[in-house]
Amino acid sequence: MDMTKMLLNILIPPVALIMLLLILPPYLVLKYLGLVRGFTYSEDVAGKVVLITGASSGIGEHIAYQYARRGARLALVARREDRLREVASEARKMGSPDVLQIRADVSKVEDCKRFVDETIEHFGQLDHLVNNAGIPGVGLLEETTNISDLTSVVDINFWGSVYGTYFAAPYLRKSHGKIIVISSAAGRFHSPGASIYGASKAALISLYESLRIEFGSDIGITIVIPGLVKSEMTTGKRRSKAKLQSIPIESTEDCAKAIVDSACRGDRYLVEPSWVWILFLVKVLFPEVLEWCLHWLFFSTPRNSRKAA
Ligand SMILES: NC(=O)c1ccc[n+]([C@@H]2O[C@H](COP(=O)([O-])OP(=O)(O)OC[C@H]3O[C@@H](n4cnc5c(N)ncnc54)[C@H](OP(=O)(O)O)[C@@H]3O)[C@@H](O)[C@H]2O)c1
Ligand SMILES: *[C@@H]1O[C@H](CO)[C@@H](O)[C@H](O)[C@H]1NC(C)=O
Repeated sequence: MDMTKMLLNILIPPVALIMLLLILPPYLVLKYLGLVRGFTYSEDVAGKVVLITGASSGIGEHIAYQYARRGARLALVARREDRLREVASEARKMGSPDVLQIRADVSKVEDCKRFVDETIEHFGQLDHLVNNAGIPGVGLLEETTNISDLTSVVDINFWGSVYGTYFAAPYLRKSHGKIIVISSAAGRFHSPGASIYGASKAALISLYESLRIEFGSDIGITIVIPGLVKSEMTTGKRRSKAKLQSIPIESTEDCAKAIVDSACRGDRYLVEPSWVWILFLVKVLFPEVLEWCLHWLFFSTPRNSRKAA
């Protein structure tokens, strides 16, 4: 038994490596051809039905405007009805032929069933589902006063996407539609002070990687990994002045345009802005050095400026 195990440990890696090296060149050629197609092909979403969660502000609001400019019909979901109304009227002005506003909390299963049902009742179809609603979760785990407060981050960021996807899937299969999911660089690049938020976003990546396989070619999935983007999450009262100010921040319009362009191309992933991927490489190549640097950066700042996060 031990002998076979040892033999396998010695044999499998080099054999696998040789096979990978043989397969890699033709694979890269095919992938490159796929990319060329991506630059020339873009789905025409005029008249199609797009449901966006978290459309009352920030990235979701601007995704709505991008789809509106392309002539898509919209179902906008969030909790603040007054803000939704303003976004809906702006979207109509920008060219959307029909906009539906639905007040709902994505962390509630019954709300998610209702917003999908209402969308189908009104439009009769669903083509793109944009799972964007999310809340930040900042602070050190040990400094959290009420641990139960943290469950809402996962309930909204993770379960809020699962529920909507579950109820929309039959309609998306029928239309050969797409799911666009807004994860975060924090789901790949682990940083202090956002552990639960990062975990909720990493869980999204894992979830949709599996669903890609379950849905096959019936439903396309674009996983979006934004860096820092201007929104209510990163400005205003929630902003961590000490740390966020030193990091370049992308405009909400640019980010939303990149997301909708990417969805229409049918990309599997979008890292936006694209330079952020270099952080993931650093993480893979020098994990210990990075951990040490982040620890030093975070804990060498005065305690009260950290608390401002
Ligand atoms: N800004 C960034 O730097 C950044 C970076 C990476 C990823 N992201 C992700 O991008 C997404 C959009 O965030 P944002 O930056 O645009 O922040 P934002 O301006 O705060 O927008 C969040 C949106 O989600 C909605 N929302 C929150 N909880 C909800 C709930 N329980 N039910 C329904 N809707 C809910 C909010 O609307 P109501 O409050 O009206 O419900 C709002 O429309 C989030 O998933 C976020 O994690 C942002
Ligand atoms: C802790 O948070 C939970 C959920 O937010 C809440 O239901 C509970 O009442 C809170 N407990 C205390 C002691 O504040």
